[in-house]
Amino acid sequence: MSCLDFSIFVCFGIIVLLINCLALANAEEVTCSGIVPMRYRDDKISITDFGGVGDGVTLNTKAFKEAIYRIEHLHRRGGTLLYVPPGEYLTGPFNLTSHMTLYLARGAVIKATVDTEEWPLLSPLPSYGRGRELPGGRYMSFIHGDGLHDVIITGENGTIDGQGDVWWNMWRQRTLKFTRPNLVELLNSTSIIISNITFKNSPFWNLHPVYCSNVVINYATIVAPADSPNTDGIDPDSSSHVCIEDSYISTGDDLVAVKSGWDEYGIAYGRPSQDITIRRVTGSSPFAGIAVGSETSGGVEDVLAEHINLFNMGFGIHLKTNIGRGGVIRNITISNVYMDKARKGIKISGDVGDHPDENYNPKALPVLKDVKIKDVWGDRVQQPGLIRGLKDAPFSGICLSNISLGGATGQRDLPWQCSDVSGGAVQVSPLPCSELTSSQQIGACASSF
Ligand SMILES: *[C@@H]1O[C@H](CO)[C@@H](O)[C@H](O)[C@H]1NC(C)=O
Ligand SMILES: *[C@@H]1O[C@H](CO)[C@@H](O)[C@H](O)[C@H]1NC(C)=O
Ligand SMILES: *[C@@H]1O[C@H](CO)[C@@H](O)[C@H](O)[C@H]1NC(C)=O
Ligand SMILES: *[C@@H]1O[C@H](CO)[C@@H](O)[C@H](O)[C@H]1NC(C)=O
Ligand SMILES: *[C@@H]1O[C@H](CO)[C@@H](O)[C@H](O)[C@H]1NC(C)=O
Ligand SMILES: *[C@@H]1O[C@H](CO)[C@@H](O)[C@H](O)[C@H]1NC(C)=O
Repeated sequence: MSCLDFSIFVCFGIIVLLINCLALANAEEVTCSGIVPMRYRDDKISITDFGGVGDGVTLNTKAFKEAIYRIEHLHRRGGTLLYVPPGEYLTGPFNLTSHMTLYLARGAVIKATVDTEEWPLLSPLPSYGRGRELPGGRYMSFIHGDGLHDVIITGENGTIDGQGDVWWNMWRQRTLKFTRPNLVELLNSTSIIISNITFKNSPFWNLHPVYCSNVVINYATIVAPADSPNTDGIDPDSSSHVCIEDSYISTGDDLVAVKSGWDEYGIAYGRPSQDITIRRVTGSSPFAGIAVGSETSGGVEDVLAEHINLFNMGFGIHLKTNIGRGGVIRNITISNVYMDKARKGIKISGDVGDHPDENYNPKALPVLKDVKIKDVWGDRVQQPGLIRGLKDAPFSGICLSNISLGGATGQRDLPWQCSDVSGGAVQVSPLPCSELTSSQQIGACASSF
């Protein structure tokens, strides 16, 4: 082999290597789950060591409290794993502690008691000023954590069952005294992983990380009947660095709704939701698939949602706020969304949601800007889009591209409707409203397309 031949040979080899590397990089799925390191714990205990009985009848509240007390007070290096073997473990609500893994074996079910007297009241969240449904406190979530660090809820797809019927019926019959409990709420906590778990029949919102950072939720299944009231799937609230991936969510309310506090209380608390990623989520809901709001008083920024598959929806995408909310919603990117059957494909509105009390400031107008929605495909969508900004605070920088939202056959199809909005739209069908199609407007979106 001559020197030249050899160089060509080496060069060729390097090119092949590069191509292989590129192919590998492409095959590797994009993920943000690395923001929280997985921890494997050497110290393991089982709920049965603390008298836990998985017969579906015995109340295990004491067993969970004692097991978690043991984890908290022995604080073993590297934390402790609490194993829940197959079986149905009925229990009242309980608190988690730091440096623990709650591990549900295949066939393990942690089931909430239907005795509502077993649920203690907590004080309102400062950013809400009162319970979300009713004035005053609110019931503690079924699985609760406050001020924690390094908590993992995982296993072999075991189930956390809120047995929400009793609460939904109280809501329907207007006999609730306070705001219903979330299924899992973590407050002011960091380094959280929730993975390979099924969440079922939450009394109210399912997963509620509030004032948290570094939260990974993946391979979760979240289910509740379509007619169950307010059973939002995941509500990152005044939280940052939240990564939601590879999950199936079908509930009675928004699948994922990014929030940050309510009117004057949320404005005073002033904690935004920031750096929220939602990727490869599938599901169905009479309300929204990907939502921001309506409680956004601390602001919401840097949200990325992509590869979302939706069916039988109220709204595919819903960005919502209201007067009195204040707060800035900005830099929201939503792409690669497929939806089959929806009342509205895209809704962005400044007149959604109620107020905590009469003391909200009607001059506290929200700002909504820099929203990029692209590569959205929908079939059987009754109305492609509705954008309703505020007269004194028009929405701006709303950039839409490569969107096709096909009509519903045999139903009255509505056109796009817009008011008080500026931005641009290219390759959008049906043709969107004139507010978004004037050439001057498209210029403002040039960097987005
Ligand atoms: C759980 O923790 C909260 C505050 O972090 C506390 O108020 C409540 O009493 C605890 N509840 C139970 C049932 O231990
Ligand atoms: C948040 O939790 C930390 C402990 O991790 C605690 O020191 C701090 O006081 C808590 N802050 C609030 C507002 O509860
Ligand atoms: C987890 O269990 C649910 C039912 O509880 C099921 O629908 C889902 O497919 C399971 N997920 C995996 C990854 O096995
Ligand atoms: C959950 O299951 C997926 C797929 O099997 C796996 O890659 C992931 O590591 C699991 N999560 C945890 C926290 O073990
Ligand atoms: C917008 O948000 C994305 C995350 O979705 C982030 O990577 C980017 O830096 C943000 N851009 C600005 C201008 O803040
Ligand atoms: C337009 O969006 C569709 C559906 O999400 C996608 O498959 C297609 O690649 C996009 N086209 C362009 C030119 O980006």
